[in-house]
Amino acid sequence: MGRCRGGQLAIAGLAVVALLSLISACSSSVRTHATTLAVAQLVEGRRLFAGACGACHTLTGHDTHANGGDLGLLQMTQAQMLSFARIMPIPKMSSDKLRNIVRYVVSVEADDAKRPSAGATTSPYGARKATR
Ligand code: HEC
Repeated sequence: MGRCRGGQLAIAGLAVVALLSLISACSSSVRTHATTLAVAQLVEGRRLFAGACGACHTLTGHDTHANGGDLGLLQMTQAQMLSFARIMPIPKMSSDKLRNIVRYVVSVEADDAKRPSAGATTSPYGARKATR
């Protein structure tokens, strides 16, 4: 009996670790894109969006009366979004970073368009929380 306890504890410990990694994998709001886009890039894009665009734009899929408008209401290709992003009054940033933002914004726009209630609900990606 006593000899087994160490093993059981180790197994219980492993189970906890497995569970935790499962939970953190599932809690990502961008998981539906995991197969087509690198999650890390989207997370980075979201962070950069909040910093570079969030002062003037939201990304919720409904009208928030943000100065520059809600980008979630748009349906742009990455090329179109990039051409706008380039002319926005933002601090100079590498085109890699800009592309990360663009990828993130376009993927959220695509999600908003797929939602049956598009335009009516707050997107889980809403950038407003991140900026204020
Ligand atoms: C200092 C404020 C400001 C910042 C920062 C800013 N924008 Fe804008 N943006 C605007 C304004 C103002 C408009 C024009 C809105 C209009 O005409 O309705 C605009 C327009 C746009 C449009 C076209 C919207 C449309 O309805 O056609 C896109 C796309 C866009 N911005 C993307 C971005 C992205 C991406 C970033 C971050 C990299 C960004 N903007 C940063 C103010 C800003």
